[in-house]
Amino acid sequence: MTYQIIYSSDASIPMQSDDLEDLLEQAREGNARRGITGALVYVDGIFLQILEGEAATLKALMARIARDLRHEAVTVLQEGEVPSPRFSDWKMAYIGATPEQVAEWLCLPGTTPVPELFDGMRRDASRVDDVARSVLSVLSTDRSGPASGPPL
Ligand SMILES: Cc1cc2nc3c(=O)[nH]c(=O)nc-3n(C[C@H](O)[C@H](O)[C@H](O)COP(=O)(O)O)c2cc1C
Repeated sequence: MTYQIIYSSDASIPMQSDDLEDLLEQAREGNARRGITGALVYVDGIFLQILEGEAATLKALMARIARDLRHEAVTVLQEGEVPSPRFSDWKMAYIGATPEQVAEWLCLPGTTPVPELFDGMRRDASRVDDVARSVLSVLSTDRSGPASGPPL
């Protein structure tokens, strides 16, 4: 069985390209060592991360990530066993998303403010699934694009 954790958090200070590149390099290196895979979405100062791996290893990593000063208000939206890993192709895929894109994933109007999009996910777990599915579909249809190539 694979354990999956999906959380959102607020960047402590807005991330520049270099900051994101450093973070992704660190995440991919750490994940390769621990057999963890997943995807990181960054939109308007908010992170959404999907992590998959062996339960104990992943919970220990999550505890470390939650203490990272680069973000705050770390909120686990969903966690538990999944029948099979869905993001096993990516040590940590990256999507720099637009607010409109995330709204579309949630079938909400493109004008919905980003904090509201994430509040909706916190209230309704089925929305978290919708987003995870959409992230996977973006990555799967864009294998030659930025998500699977260089970090940004
Ligand atoms: C938004 C965010 C996502 C992160 N994702 C990962 C990750 O997927 N894997 C990882 O090893 N570290 C990740 N990190 C970095 C960890 O918080 C931590 O800095 C890193 O694991 C190095 O810790 P260590 O030197 O104690 O091993 C992330 C940090 C942030 C802020």
